[in-house]
Amino acid sequence: MLNSDLDRRLEPRIKELYQLHKERSANIDWSYHEFIPWDKAMSFKRVPWEESQVTLPEGVIVAVETALLTEVNLPWYTSHLDYTFKNSMEVINDFVRTWTAEEDQHSNLLETYLLVTRNVNPTRLHELRRRVVENGWFPDFTNPLATMAYTSLQELATLVFYNNVAKIAGPHDKDLSTLLRRLAKDEALHYAFYRDTVKAHLELDPNFIVFFEDVIINFSMPGAVMPDFTERMKTIAINANYGPLQYFDQVLDVVVTYWDIANLQPTTDEAKQSQANILNYHGRLKRIKDRQLQKNKK
Ligand SMILES: [Fe+2]
Ligand SMILES: [Fe+2]
Repeated sequence: MLNSDLDRRLEPRIKELYQLHKERSANIDWSYHEFIPWDKAMSFKRVPWEESQVTLPEGVIVAVETALLTEVNLPWYTSHLDYTFKNSMEVINDFVRTWTAEEDQHSNLLETYLLVTRNVNPTRLHELRRRVVENGWFPDFTNPLATMAYTSLQELATLVFYNNVAKIAGPHDKDLSTLLRRLAKDEALHYAFYRDTVKAHLELDPNFIVFFEDVIINFSMPGAVMPDFTERMKTIAINANYGPLQYFDQVLDVVVTYWDIANLQPTTDEAKQSQANILNYHGRLKRIKDRQLQKNKK
């Protein structure tokens, strides 16, 4: 009987993935201060914030603020990973610390950008930030393999989100799109580590799929706990280039293909059922997407 812990036979492979992560992340520029347009900074005491100072379209602001309010819950993400992998291999705990150090910069950078460019009311933003962290984040899965699949999807979704918003933001503010693309690079490396750890498990034993089914079918972003999340996502889907269509094409479809779910050969009935359920879900979303594209053409 398989259990939901990471498989210790994969320790050498996971160590390799961690090493690769360290090498790649060492090549990314860590000078975050260079991504902030400091020339625009003014004292809030001397020049109080006013609505008229806003320069970006609403969709872009909502996207950046939503990203920020997702990243600020890092203490809770780390506490979830720490709890989940407490008895796991040392290399996973090493990765979680490296990951935390990298993620730790993200909310700072987004918040500083929004404050310096005055695209949000700072008082409102700080109240929201505090409320979000106070609410915390407590997912209903705490097993190591489910967590690996969840974080794969979440990192890829974040990466796609940053790159897609960067495209929309570019014509309004080049600094913002450069900053978002920089964050996306971190997310790409995180995604690669989690994704390949999942892949290694499926290659070792396709029956591990039973632990991935739930999180794939019921995925929602960790930011879903923030105030007005549904409204925010609607605005972002319409105005900032990230919605259900992009989620299917650039996230779900990508991992289902990468993990080669369709061609796995599980041997237990339970695992075969999980495989079928994931493929059905994928097929259903694909049909919805195709119908939507047809409608858009008309
Ligand atoms: Fe991040
Ligand atoms: Fe990340």
